[in-house]
Amino acid sequence: MNETINLLNSHTSIRKFNDKRIPQNQKDLIIGSAMRGATAGNMMAYSIIKIESKDNLLNLAQSCDEQPFIANADLALLFVADNYKWHKYFEQRNINEIFLDYKGPCVSDLILGIEDAMIAAQNAVIAAESLGIGTCYIGDIMENYEYHKNLFNLPSYTMPVALIVMGYYDTKPQIRDRFDKSYIVFDEVYPNINDDFINNMFSVEESKDEDFAKKFYARKINAPFFKEMIRSIKLYLNEWLEK
Ligand SMILES: Cc1cc2nc3c(=O)[nH]c(=O)nc-3n(C[C@H](O)[C@H](O)[C@H](O)COP(=O)(O)O)c2cc1C
Repeated sequence: MNETINLLNSHTSIRKFNDKRIPQNQKDLIIGSAMRGATAGNMMAYSIIKIESKDNLLNLAQSCDEQPFIANADLALLFVADNYKWHKYFEQRNINEIFLDYKGPCVSDLILGIEDAMIAAQNAVIAAESLGIGTCYIGDIMENYEYHKNLFNLPSYTMPVALIVMGYYDTKPQIRDRFDKSYIVFDEVYPNINDDFINNMFSVEESKDEDFAKKFYARKINAPFFKEMIRSIKLYLNEWLEK
C-alpha cells in the first residue's frame, strides 16, 4: 500500500491532546489543503473560521454538549456552509433586475454548501493526520443555533456544519471497526434489504449485546443533545426555506 492509503486506513479520532503547539506553517498547510478540495462550480460555498483562543475553545467545550476535551485542542477549524457571500454579490450586482425570480439562496444551495464544506473539512483532517496531528469532528456544533450564531457572528445563509478540533497526542487509540463492505458497497444498484440483511449487518454488535438497538437509540437518537440538534437545524433550514 502507498503512504496515502496507509494513512487513510489508520484513521482514528483523537480526543486526548498534549501541550505541544502546532507550528503556524503546519496550520497554513492544513488550511491550504482544505481549500484545494473539489467544490461545486468552483464557488467555494463555505467559510473556515480558525479558533485558537482558549476562551472560545472553552465556550465550545460547553456549548457542544459538554465535551471538555475540546478545550485542550490547540486549534479548532469551523467549516461553515456559506451562501451569504455569493448572495451579497448577486444582490450588489442587481441580479434580480434581469432574473426576476431571484429571491436568495435555496435549499439546494445549502446542500451544495454543506457538501463543499465537508469536502474541505475532510481534506483538513487528512492533511493534519499526514503531519502527525490528531483530529476529531464535533457534530454538536449544529446545536444551539442562537448561541453559535452569536458567538461567531454568523449572518443569514450560513450554517456551521463541521467543527474539527486538532492537536498533537501521545497515544493513538485502536482503530474502530467499520461495518463489513457487503453492507455498505453495492454493485450497480441498491439491493433489496430484507430481514436477513439487517440481522447480519448488526450481528456483530448484537452478539455483544442483544439490546444493542434499544440502547443505541436511547444513547444517541433519544438523547437531549439529539433533540437540541433537531431544533437547531430546523432554525437553520428556515433561513433558506422562508421566502
Ligand atoms: C459528523 C461527525 C460528527 C462527530 N461528532 C463527534 C462529537 O461531537 N464528539 C466526538 O467525540 N466525536 C465525534 N465524531 C467522531 C466519531 O465519533 C468517530 O468518527 C466514530 O466514532 C468513528 O471513530 P474513528 O473516527 O476513531 O474511526 C464525529 C464524527 C463525525 C463524522
